[in-house]
Amino acid sequence: MCARARFRRCVVEAPATTANLGPGFDVFGLALDVAYDRVELEVISDSGGVIEVQVDGPYASEVPADASRNTAAVAVSEVLRELGIDVGLRLKLWKGVRPRCGLGSSGSSAAAAVVAVAKLLQLDLPPVKLVEYAARGEAVAAGHPHADNVAPSILGGFTVIRSYRPLDVISLEPPSNLGIVLAIPKIPVPKEKTKFAREVLPKSIELSKLVHNVGHAVYVALGFALKNVDLIGRGMDDAVVEPARAKLIPGYHNVRKRALEAGASGVAISGAGPTMLAVVNLNKVNPEVVGEAMCEGFREVGVEAEYVVTRPSRGARVLVLE
Ligand code: HSE
Repeated sequence: MCARARFRRCVVEAPATTANLGPGFDVFGLALDVAYDRVELEVISDSGGVIEVQVDGPYASEVPADASRNTAAVAVSEVLRELGIDVGLRLKLWKGVRPRCGLGSSGSSAAAAVVAVAKLLQLDLPPVKLVEYAARGEAVAAGHPHADNVAPSILGGFTVIRSYRPLDVISLEPPSNLGIVLAIPKIPVPKEKTKFAREVLPKSIELSKLVHNVGHAVYVALGFALKNVDLIGRGMDDAVVEPARAKLIPGYHNVRKRALEAGASGVAISGAGPTMLAVVNLNKVNPEVVGEAMCEGFREVGVEAEYVVTRPSRGARVLVLE
């Protein structure tokens, strides 16, 4: 067995997430208590890296099980490679976060995997380093190492990435009256959905749009810092990314309008979509009413949709270490 492996097996679960929250493209993320991925790592020999990958769970058929394309396996390999650790591991992924709908699915697998390998091998890695490794795993699915899904999946709550080089990230505990409504349209999505949804984005933007987004992003962050859901919602308007992606989501404008009319504090595309997300002040508004209104907004343009009401989640947690 690898000289440094004091433990044989570790199981970690990491939550689904939403990224961007409107103006915070690649910056804001929020962990969601809606679904979890679970990664089990077991030391099976002295060397060889990630030797075996097994995937099961409700969405197993939708993710690759080879070590070079599975985001969990790639994230673990990155840790081993960079730290020069040789050990042979079996990785079992239980896939509970639905892929390709905007809930950070590939990031949840990578987040759980990095936390698991760090615990298993007792690596003394700072949280920001865990996020960095997980983002490298995420890159095989998204085509880009964005960290706004893996950060909340690891750290929990609301996260802000100030800088990518060097990576700098903080997390804040969301307000307790923050409700989240997810409206998930039943539309076909491309296989490399996030990569595709990034290709439609503008390469440069006008100064007026920068001013709009900075002001709105600051409101979102202040809303979390001051635990004020209405302030969060007022900040959720993006002049750059969502206008470019709106055409990928039939009914986008309708759903937005319907959600706000039903009392949502703010609405955004969840990550790269196509799920739409509304934030709701649970002290004032029934989230079920907002969910119905959002689905109605989709139905009006001929798209079937389902909604889920959820809350923010804590980050990845260790279930077994032995
Ligand atoms: N910030 C990323 C994007 C999140 O919008 O492309 C993808 O989940």
